[in-house]
Amino acid sequence: MKLKQLEGILGSLQQFENPKIELEQYPTGPHIASRLLYTAENSFGDVSDKVVADFGCGCGTLGLAAGLLGAEHVIGFDIDAESIEIASSNAEELEIDMDFVQCDIRNLRLSDRTIDTVVMNPPFGTRKKGADMDFLSVALKVASQAVYSLHKTTTRDHIKRTALREYNASSAEVLCELRFDVPQLYKFHKKKEVDVAVDLWRFVPKNSR
Ligand SMILES: C[S@@+](CC[C@H](N)C(=O)[O-])C[C@H]1O[C@@H](n2cnc3c(N)ncnc32)[C@H](O)[C@@H]1O
Repeated sequence: MKLKQLEGILGSLQQFENPKIELEQYPTGPHIASRLLYTAENSFGDVSDKVVADFGCGCGTLGLAAGLLGAEHVIGFDIDAESIEIASSNAEELEIDMDFVQCDIRNLRLSDRTIDTVVMNPPFGTRKKGADMDFLSVALKVASQAVYSLHKTTTRDHIKRTALREYNASSAEVLCELRFDVPQLYKFHKKKEVDVAVDLWRFVPKNSR
């Protein structure tokens, strides 16, 4: 599938109806989501015929993109039942076979490394400090091949240091810097959205296959 075609399909997906601020529910737009998955597949071969997990899947954009690019099996994890319902209806609409697990990602325990690749746009940690790092820590425990994740550029040094020293990463590479439109979280802000600089990361866990 061509990049533009993927972006077009992702642009048609239903998104959060009543986003929950405390869970940092803002969608990854089709431009960024399509490039994240396209790069994972075409530059690194981390998607097609792989088991892909979408952490904090929200309405399913990243996981469904993996399905469209030929993932063998896709599983979406989210704490919020309403999001999973929307994601599930998006999957039905696209006729993609995607499984869902409602859970707090911090409590996820998978005994063996059945997941090849994790894709995620975790909460940036603006509402719950450290939420981004919680996601990364678990992702690097369960993935056997690679983790793709978006993090605020201002946290770059911290992310790299922590991933390599404490979170089981053998490599941590920023693939590109992007602009991300994040909705303003407080009513008194004049603008509806702020443009945040975000890094697209690729992490490789130690002992990757
Ligand atoms: C920034 S949104 C990303 C949504 C979607 N992945 C996307 O890219 O459009 C973060 C998602 O993480 C979920 N989330 C927040 N905290 C979580 C937790 N502790 N465990 C699981 N999911 C969580 C939210 O419900 C939300 O869907």
